[in-house]
Amino acid sequence: MQSVLMDVDTGIDDALALVYLASLPDVEFVAVTASPGNVDAHQVARNTLAILELCGRRGVEVAVGAEGPLSIPLVTTPETHGPQGLGHAVLPPPAGTVSARHAADLWVEAARARPGELTALITAPLTNFALAIRREPRLPELLGKVVIMGGSFYHQGNTTPTAEWNTHVDPHAAKEVYAAYRGMPSERLPIICSLDTTERMEMRPEHLLRLAQEAGCAEPELVLPEDPEGRRSTAGNALVRRLSDALRFYFEFHRRYDQGYLAHVHDAFAACVAVGRTDVATALATVDVETVSPLLMGTTVADYRGLWGLPPNARIVMSNNPKQCFDELIESVGALAGRLP
Ligand code: BDR
Ligand code: CA
Repeated sequence: MQSVLMDVDTGIDDALALVYLASLPDVEFVAVTASPGNVDAHQVARNTLAILELCGRRGVEVAVGAEGPLSIPLVTTPETHGPQGLGHAVLPPPAGTVSARHAADLWVEAARARPGELTALITAPLTNFALAIRREPRLPELLGKVVIMGGSFYHQGNTTPTAEWNTHVDPHAAKEVYAAYRGMPSERLPIICSLDTTERMEMRPEHLLRLAQEAGCAEPELVLPEDPEGRRSTAGNALVRRLSDALRFYFEFHRRYDQGYLAHVHDAFAACVAVGRTDVATALATVDVETVSPLLMGTTVADYRGLWGLPPNARIVMSNNPKQCFDELIESVGALAGRLP
């Protein structure tokens, strides 16, 4: 059993990450916390509860923490993920309610209770994680494997020409988190899934078609570039229908930015890395974040050669295998969809 503690800003690709982890019978969600990012933190929490319930994972603790980034105002992104964060998908309101615990307290208490045992996955701005480290500076030692989706190194940004969304939303938090890892043993360093490799995860309509087949859907799940924007899925399977509606929105968004009728499923890739079901190669680096220059705000810089004379604080994913990762995602999520009532 792998015990996973997550922080998310659900978010279409966060939703796919949650569904994928929920599809793995040997994954226990310790809790899922909500950072403000794609949508505000309360909407993130509602989306997260609704997704977990849709996947048959009722009762997972979902908590809110920060209401905004550490030092700058929150900017959300309805054009990327839809006004509610799940694209065209409309989910039943969750039966569960948001925990009374603050996300940062929850992280600290969970890590202290099971030192070295938890796998941490953060697919959101690093706000809650930075707050948790402020409360417990030993948190990097107390957590087991840590995987972060964020940053962009030798790859153009997706928010500014050089900055990636999660880091751009809260660059100060990201800077604090990287600083906290300086000098830690390499096996404790966070594994960073940056745009350099997550943008190779191009989800396309044919992946949805296969997913529906795996789920045993009677009709082919066709999401076509020529369809009118916003067309809703008629799949009989509730999980396939919601994923299809969410991903259609993401395809439309990426096409608007000339990237083709596809979606970069950054967070789902990071989830596969967290549970070790996709092969990656990593390199040690010292990472820092720009928080002053208006031109480069939120830009991540990696020093692979020790030019700054500082110890490494991250393991950056340098290569990945998108085909294998999609096979894993489709098989596992399809099987979950097929066994849901
Ligand atoms: C990241 O930004 C968010 O919009 C996505 O959910 C992902 O975590 C990619 O830059
Ligand atoms: Ca996200």
